[in-house]
Amino acid sequence: MLGTRTDDEQPVHLKPYGANVLLTGSSGSGKSTIATAILERLDEQQYQFCIIDPEGDYESFEGALVLGDPSRSPSVDAVMDLLEKPDQNAIVNLLGVGMADRPAFFEGLLPRLQELRARSGRPHWIVIDEAHHLLPTSWRPSSTTLPQELSGLMLITVHPDHVAPAVLSLIDTIVTVGEAPEQAIEAFSAALERSRDAGEPLEARPLASAPTRLENGEALIWSRSSGESPFRLRLAPPRGERGDPGRLDRVDPDLVWPGHIRVPDGGIGLGGGHASTARLKFRDGILAVLVAQ
Ligand SMILES: Nc1ncnc2c1ncn2[C@@H]1O[C@H](COP(=O)(O)OP(=O)(O)OP(=O)(O)O)[C@@H](O)[C@H]1O
Ligand SMILES: [Mg+2]
Repeated sequence: MLGTRTDDEQPVHLKPYGANVLLTGSSGSGKSTIATAILERLDEQQYQFCIIDPEGDYESFEGALVLGDPSRSPSVDAVMDLLEKPDQNAIVNLLGVGMADRPAFFEGLLPRLQELRARSGRPHWIVIDEAHHLLPTSWRPSSTTLPQELSGLMLITVHPDHVAPAVLSLIDTIVTVGEAPEQAIEAFSAALERSRDAGEPLEARPLASAPTRLENGEALIWSRSSGESPFRLRLAPPRGERGDPGRLDRVDPDLVWPGHIRVPDGGIGLGGGHASTARLKFRDGILAVLVAQ
């Protein structure tokens, strides 16, 4: 279950496999957190996933093994060996792969994932965080990558308009969080219309709806095939927060230090000793949330 509609309190479910989902919204608006909540549920139902994790956002995810770390590039063979086992999920951490080399790494991994899919139907989900880096506008499907065969994709990006139109055209469900969610859907629609992908079977633009201001923990959802306007959804909380939705921060006092630090938007991962137990995130350049487990 993804959450509950705010208008009629009806539960909203995501198709557990075969769907193509875009998760978008402003920087730091909670995209990776929502993805984690969705994947926890898929894991509970034994669906297999492979997360491409350029920023180390999923390293503390319980139901999966992390391959690669800041000092070591993950090996495609190791990823595939792991995914051969139906009860294992893979987190492919790209912190050890230089920014410029990441698209090429992904280009090597994707056909192998598709090959396993063709053979076994798994992994059910290929989750690509920061998808605008790995499938940029300039990306062209290679002969081994037939985009129409790409399904079970969850693309996560702050810039849907910087993602390859061939991939955007496969997306049905768009989940947006944060400020100005309509703008994110608009950016998606405009990118599709700019593409020369004629014969597009799904709607590029949603029916008009009133401007939306989302509360904390809400998302705006649009299904292109539904013919409906986007609607507001109260998201089901991630596992760690279930039953305790009011508590935002769990702070380990050992990790608090005096003074202020300013860093670029987007956050940093904590390397070294605390990496598996704590994570700092920065919003608008200021330390906003400190989570320890
Ligand atoms: N509903 C929420 N309530 C309170 N804090 C939240 C909520 N959702 C996410 N956060 C916190 O906000 C921070 C940013 O969340 P997250 O990393 O999921 O955002 P993001 O959109 O993926 O960011 P980025 O654009 O940097 O990838 C995290 O520290 C997370 O714990
Ligand atoms: Mg993120």
